[in-house]
Amino acid sequence: MTQTYARLSGVHTYTPEYILTNQELEKLVDTTDTWITERTGIKERRILKGEGLGTSHMATEAVKGLLAKTNTAPEEVELLICATTTPDFVFPATANLICDAVGIRNAFSYDVQAACSGFLYALSTASQFIKAGTYKKIVVVGADKMSSIIDYTDRATCIIFGDGAGAVLLEASEEPYGVLDFVLQSDGAGWVHLHQKAGGSRRPPNAETVAAREHFVYQEGAAVFKHAVKRMAEASGTIMERNQLRAEDIAWLVPHQANKRIIDATAQHMGLPADKVMLNIHKYGNTTNATIPLCLHDYEPQLKRGQNLVLAAFGGGFTWGAVYLKWAYDSQ
Ligand code: UT7
Repeated sequence: MTQTYARLSGVHTYTPEYILTNQELEKLVDTTDTWITERTGIKERRILKGEGLGTSHMATEAVKGLLAKTNTAPEEVELLICATTTPDFVFPATANLICDAVGIRNAFSYDVQAACSGFLYALSTASQFIKAGTYKKIVVVGADKMSSIIDYTDRATCIIFGDGAGAVLLEASEEPYGVLDFVLQSDGAGWVHLHQKAGGSRRPPNAETVAAREHFVYQEGAAVFKHAVKRMAEASGTIMERNQLRAEDIAWLVPHQANKRIIDATAQHMGLPADKVMLNIHKYGNTTNATIPLCLHDYEPQLKRGQNLVLAAFGGGFTWGAVYLKWAYDSQ
């Protein structure tokens, strides 16, 4: 019996026009461009402005562009998975809204919530549906409007996050390209360090929760930083060992863009030089579920068929993981 592989055959993104610079943040909170640049690597981030526009707006644009670019008709898509931490609504799923806006009608769709690791969770899940022979074309989208849950009076968090969306197409193929392996993990004990205090069923929204600013990201930065460095290195190490990948076999590390110092530590642990590490945190900050597709899209012109990529992420939950992806095409 021939084996089926989940080939990644296209990537497209959407980022909002508005650019929030470090200089503008200097006017909002007690911070400096120097501190932000040295501690995180971020210079600017994109913010979605416009009444009534949520995460699905950005995701829809990314998916429309992806389908056009890959000559895929909406009717061909059998499943769409949206990884997001900032859904348009508590329910229904943002994935349902995206399908409706794009005209994907012969599919089912759902959201994945795994904070900053969500794109890797969704990509891995999608690849399993393809490898099992269940579906042939799946769209995976990572999108977040982080500005909707950021407190722009809190200097510890408002400097980090931005908005954006990225989508990829996975297709069934007999050639050994695409998602070849993945390592995923979670540890719920980590929730205390990174979460949103109110708005869920445990603490529903009311005047008190709003007054206490509990509808924003709460992060104990230093604790999260320590876990992120350890877990991203561990997951990337496991994926390398399991697939007998030496540093010289890897063309690119595609790390979640949370902090340049975390990215540098992961690359160092893997023995990779800086020129093999995708980096765009300076332009977009941490867009949560969109960071990895945004990287793939920015670097797409440099990617070559057959190159080995390791994708790695860490996020709230805690959640973390790494994916071994063999790139399937040369860009035109
Ligand atoms: O993507 C999901 C997972 N998230 C992450 O991976 C984020 C991980 N954490 C981080 O990236 C870093 O912890 C931060 C960038 C959030 C913070 O950097 P840090 O070097 O860990 O700073 P810190 O929180 O330990 O704070 C050090 C000092 C404190 O001052 P004192 O108490 O030493 O006087 C903070 O008040 O830096 C201060 N500080 C700031 N100063 C200027 C915190 N934020 C700022 C700021 N500007 N924006």
